[in-house]
Amino acid sequence: MSAQALVDTARTLVADDKGLLAMDESNGTCNKRFAKEGIPQTVEARRAYREVILTTPGLGACISGAILYDETIRQQKKDGTPFVKVLADAGVIPGIKVDEGAKDLAGHPGEKVTEGLDGLRDRLQEYFQMGARFAKWRAVIALGEGIPSRGCIEANAQALARYAALCQETGLVPVVEPEVLMDGDHTLERCRAVTEEVLRRVFDQLYMQRVMLEGMILKPNMVLPGLTCIKQETVYEVADATVKCLLRVVPAAVPGIAFLSGGQSGELASARLNAMNIRFKAAGSRPPWALTFSFARAIQQPALEIWKGEQSNLPAAQNALYHRARCNTAARRGEYSAAMEAT
Ligand code: 13P
Repeated sequence: MSAQALVDTARTLVADDKGLLAMDESNGTCNKRFAKEGIPQTVEARRAYREVILTTPGLGACISGAILYDETIRQQKKDGTPFVKVLADAGVIPGIKVDEGAKDLAGHPGEKVTEGLDGLRDRLQEYFQMGARFAKWRAVIALGEGIPSRGCIEANAQALARYAALCQETGLVPVVEPEVLMDGDHTLERCRAVTEEVLRRVFDQLYMQRVMLEGMILKPNMVLPGLTCIKQETVYEVADATVKCLLRVVPAAVPGIAFLSGGQSGELASARLNAMNIRFKAAGSRPPWALTFSFARAIQQPALEIWKGEQSNLPAAQNALYHRARCNTAARRGEYSAAMEAT
């Protein structure tokens, strides 16, 4: 696989004001979300739900790539059409989550390290054969009293870099996701400082593992106050803190930064992404990288709540999904507004 093919895929993933749709919930996470809505936690229900998402009319106008889960990439529509073909026909690049989850980090109470490097080369090759052209690996960094530790940050940064190098060797664009969690009462400033430190370590490790920055996407958290912090900054304060942090640490060679939503509401995630893009627009400039989205909950949640496992709810669920996708493409252009939510 040529380096140029990786660069082309990475650029396509962030082109034309589109973004990524994360629909790679593990079976455990998907089942938990189904349970809340009273949806049966079965293989067939998960397949049917993913069919609702993937057959949403107009999806390809807003979404450049969809991140699938191991179970999903092997599934088909009810009529037998493989999901990978459904995506390709819609002009959406298939991607795949390849980490095996965050596990307790030995000797570090309250901290996790993401596993999945063993046998990864073979798994990546299989996914490539199946049609995937990009991959995702998520590391989680918790904030709290005395954490994150240096050991946790380094272990996760190194795993991310080794994953990314293996992806590029196989011809898959790595989406590198170090997520500083929103849980806690920490301030926005603490989140900014930790996010900056984590990203520095991640880019050090990417350099050490010889990852080609032009052929990857960064998927970070936005810089936010903790969920239970008393002071909740405005959309523009969040946007400014996030952009300032990223400008310091993300090399301009990286084609795109695609944020995770991390538990923000769909509306807030759109508004904050919009504010970041507006800042550059207002200054008559452009960020060095595309600032886009790779949301799961902030795109899917309303659709899931409407669908509830009922075929009769499919059109309304797909409308809700398309609406959130459209709001986020507007946010990329700095053209999102609360008025869009009323349409
Ligand atoms: P959220 O947007 O729901 O945070 O999910 C993004 C993701 O891919 C988590 O790994």
